[in-house]
Amino acid sequence: MQIELKPLQLSDAETLYEFFQKLPASENGKNNRAHGLSKEDFAKWVQSEIDSSQGKNLKPGYVPGTTYVMYVDGTPVGVSNLRHYLNENLQKDGGHIGTHILPEYRGRGFGNIIKLETLKKAKEMGINPALVFNHDDNVPAWRTSEKLGGKLESINIVNGVKLRKYVIDTSKL
Ligand SMILES: CC(C)(COP(=O)(O)OP(=O)(O)OC[C@H]1O[C@@H](n2cnc3c(N)ncnc32)[C@H](O)[C@@H]1OP(=O)(O)O)[C@@H](O)C(=O)NCCC(=O)NCCS
Repeated sequence: MQIELKPLQLSDAETLYEFFQKLPASENGKNNRAHGLSKEDFAKWVQSEIDSSQGKNLKPGYVPGTTYVMYVDGTPVGVSNLRHYLNENLQKDGGHIGTHILPEYRGRGFGNIIKLETLKKAKEMGINPALVFNHDDNVPAWRTSEKLGGKLESINIVNGVKLRKYVIDTSKL
């Protein structure tokens, strides 16, 4: 099995359109803002994600972040986001990393792999430790955080949601 975590690129917009339409719009605080867009608006959204990864045209209160697509044997199966640094809000909710796997590929270990591969990118960027927040009732999400060495720092209610805060030492990956 060949795994590749690739930053979103404009040249992939055409082939990734259907994939982003199949990925649900919002689950457990993870949003897919490309869901429901026309092909034309999808290409614009891809460009805005590329801009974000370069720190360009950021909306107020936003930090730079990179969107990656994980390919398994050449097929896109999931998306992750890596924020390059955190502001005050993201230290309470959001954290460095979000992951999203296509529903039909869940429960096969890919959630674990995409988080590991994204944490390796965080390490390459000099991020240590990485903060990850998971909804308390999202068992698959926080199991992967623990499997990757995440230390449970707190469980707090933030905006009405019970959130687990994990601290991950990226030097150990
Ligand atoms: C969270 C998510 C990325 C996990 O992806 P996945 O491919 O299903 O995860 P894995 O197959 O790697 O499983 C991860 C762990 O959860 C466990 N798990 C999987 N499904 C489970 C379930 N329904 N109930 C309890 N545990 C479950 C697995 O056994 C595994 O633990 P283990 O390695 O100790 O056995 C995926 O469910 C998803 O995309 N959810 C919607 C978006 C989301 O919630 N993102 C996370 C917040 S940013």
